Amino acid sequence: MPSLNDIRSTFLNYFQRNGHRIVDSSPLVPRNDPTLMFTNSGMVQFKNCFTGAETRDYSRATTSQKCVRAGGKHNDLDNVGYTARHHTFFEMLGNFSFGDYFKSDAIPFAWELLTRDFDIPKDRLLVTVYHTDDEAADIWKKVAGLSDDRIIRIATDDNFWRMGPTGPCGPCTEIFFDHGDKIWGGPPGSADEDGDRFIEIWNLVFMQNEQFADGRLEPLPMQSIDTGMGLERIGALLQGKHDNYDTDLMRALIEASAHATSQDPDGPGRIHHRVIADHLRSTSFLIADGVMPSNEGRGYVLRRIMRRAMRHAHQLGAQDPVMHRLVPALVRQMGSAYPELSRAQALIEETLRLEETRFRQTLDRGLKLLDDELSGLPEGAELPGAAAFKLYDTYGFPLDLTQDALREKGRSVDTDGFDAAMAEQKAKARASWAGSGETSDAAIWFDLAEAEGATEFLGYDTETAEGQILALVRDGAEIAAAKAGEPVQIVLNQTPFYAESGGQLGDAGLLRSGSAVVRITDTKKSQGLHIHIGEVVEGEITKGQGAALSVDHDRRSAIRANHSATHLLHEALRRALGDHVAQRGSLNAPDRLRFDFSHSQGLSAAELVQVEAEVNEFIRQNSVVDTRIMTPDEARALGAQALFGEKYGHEVRVVSMGMLDGSGKGTDGQTYSLELCGGTHVARTGQIGIFVLLGDSASSAGVRRIEALTGEGALAHVKAQTRQLQEVAAVLKVTPDELAGRAKALLDERRKLENEVAQLRRELAMSGGGAAGVEIREIGGVKLIAQVMTGVAGKDLPGLVDEMKARVGSGAVLLIADTGAKPAVAAGVTPDLTDTLSAVTLVRAAAEAMGGKGGGGRPDMAQAGGADIAGAEAAIAAVEAILGGK
Ligand code: ALA
Repeated sequence: MPSLNDIRSTFLNYFQRNGHRIVDSSPLVPRNDPTLMFTNSGMVQFKNCFTGAETRDYSRATTSQKCVRAGGKHNDLDNVGYTARHHTFFEMLGNFSFGDYFKSDAIPFAWELLTRDFDIPKDRLLVTVYHTDDEAADIWKKVAGLSDDRIIRIATDDNFWRMGPTGPCGPCTEIFFDHGDKIWGGPPGSADEDGDRFIEIWNLVFMQNEQFADGRLEPLPMQSIDTGMGLERIGALLQGKHDNYDTDLMRALIEASAHATSQDPDGPGRIHHRVIADHLRSTSFLIADGVMPSNEGRGYVLRRIMRRAMRHAHQLGAQDPVMHRLVPALVRQMGSAYPELSRAQALIEETLRLEETRFRQTLDRGLKLLDDELSGLPEGAELPGAAAFKLYDTYGFPLDLTQDALREKGRSVDTDGFDAAMAEQKAKARASWAGSGETSDAAIWFDLAEAEGATEFLGYDTETAEGQILALVRDGAEIAAAKAGEPVQIVLNQTPFYAESGGQLGDAGLLRSGSAVVRITDTKKSQGLHIHIGEVVEGEITKGQGAALSVDHDRRSAIRANHSATHLLHEALRRALGDHVAQRGSLNAPDRLRFDFSHSQGLSAAELVQVEAEVNEFIRQNSVVDTRIMTPDEARALGAQALFGEKYGHEVRVVSMGMLDGSGKGTDGQTYSLELCGGTHVARTGQIGIFVLLGDSASSAGVRRIEALTGEGALAHVKAQTRQLQEVAAVLKVTPDELAGRAKALLDERRKLENEVAQLRRELAMSGGGAAGVEIREIGGVKLIAQVMTGVAGKDLPGLVDEMKARVGSGAVLLIADTGAKPAVAAGVTPDLTDTLSAVTLVRAAAEAMGGKGGGGRPDMAQAGGADIAGAEAAIAAVEAILGGK
């Protein structure tokens, strides 16, 4: 009996032998489709190959594609576990031709594989074709020899396959297997077609048209093939089972569930095991593809699936979290076909464990509330919407989980009442917002958020994605379109653009829609919406269009490096300065980073060197940067650095990097940096490149600010500095190493020369070499030296006055320095005369005569400044007058 792994390989190998490239499954979160929540068929990754918008280096492909149908239009969640063929996760096997072969090859390929390689008896197979597709019917007749009654013509859309309201499409032919008349059911198109006797196993789509939003159905430039066969179905068939859950792969998961809960796999808990087995696959693969549980968008669908499984585990009597213990069994089954599953195993296990731990804290109380509510209701009555809303709001029971719990009791929920309760809660939020004093411009964001829900951010995993334009806004009001040259703000359902928050600047980049191009210069956030701010540079964009978004990669990479370096810096500072270091603000721009933190004094040169070196050490360690979602308490227990005074919701994103033991991936206790953070980061610390600390300054009282550079910016800075150093060294004719010694020597020499010059000037002045000769006069019985000196600085005057005093023996001295700018003046009186004559009086009179004011000192020595050297003669005269009048 072939295993599911064998069947998958047989399929892929068959088409490889027939000239097809085996292409990896694309991720579950589609990058190239703005409307699709999850990849739900094999053709999603090839959508643009059918329209000709994209060409690859192969024209035939085959895949085993991971698919999830649990949100949006195709929602199989409610039935999973209870039926034989519903899954939230399944694998779609497919072969594809992009303008290569068409019907006349696709049909023989399918027939040969089914009847030869898979050895399915021909007489158990029958097909449908689109009612007008005579060509396909003829090929079937020729290739398979099917009689007319086994080629059923279907006129409905069942045989005209569309990927969605728009996009490539075409008529299809479906292959059915007849399980025989022991099972009830009629052939396709008959009244009893819903029975289980005839099961569709393979759909071959003849891609030949494109459907446009305005209703036009145009021929595609080329004819292509897209086929899809559910691995679980063909697996059940080839293993002689009627139920997909009886295949080897699903059975192994069911048994793992039975083992972990010590419950018989086929006993009364049978349904629970099936739910768990299915949900284990969808949740694990979604986590491996980057989806994290949250209360919005894809993350919420993931949470709903997880919690549904966790309730079933609880019903099996599990006392502790179960789901994460089943992951090894899943990896054993599917890890070799999907290596991403093995790579993400630790993340999947931890995410499941944390979610189940958290959910179990309210599960018992919620289930009790549910029982209490039901016991007060008449037999079979609906659960009131308000009760279901309370379970949702207080106990984290998504509506479908409550419905699932009630289904077992044959009851349902008043969903209108649930919606009304939800609307009432939103109205309350609006009322409190309206009272919060926000500007009226902001009202548009509130309205949009309420109508459309928060923007889903895809940018943790990708820098390019498609989104649907939900609104165009200018000056606080919605507009229908924007033309080239016009500014516009754009809101989409999903985006890879990071919106400014937590110090990280918003992304810039390009948005293309139809023929329009918009340059996005910034992205801001309001009410959970990412607001893309930009200008239309080409064409016209309109509301409702799909748009391809691409983030400016270089800019984002630089921001990412700076943000991750900020985390390392924070930790390095804490280790160097103490636990009081807490973040007070930060900026992560493309060209620099800034980090403000509580610390009261400047960092010493040694501390700066130490911090810079430590950050660089952890950059070189090149450890993986990990992200986890957990409760704030769990994060704190792990030692995460929380922002001071910040309010957190029920869960937080925790970013960790760096390993203390240096041995690669360690346990949480060994993580170097652990922070609550919603920003984007490098995948490994090595991508930061290099960290250069520019300096530390005071930001405000008790807060220091560090500015730094990373990567290219840091390198450019270091290079510029080196160049400057070399230039200076060249001027001084030394090597850069000798520069400090040389500079010190030059300064010492200069100081020495300055002293010598001053000394020589003094000597020159004393020897009468100044502007006028030294002349001792006697006025009113007092000897006086009064002299204007050039080439002497004001600060040299007191020394000169002392020398002149010594020369005069007993008397007064007046020296005026002609400095070229404002003159300086000093006066001296020998000690024997200070009782009757004050130098202060003399200097003041002199200064006044030169347009100056004031002056001061002691009776034996005083100084002042004049305004104009032209008054020098008058100054000397003023002093002579004082002496004369004495
Ligand atoms: N795309 C086709 C399907 O999903 C094959 O059925």
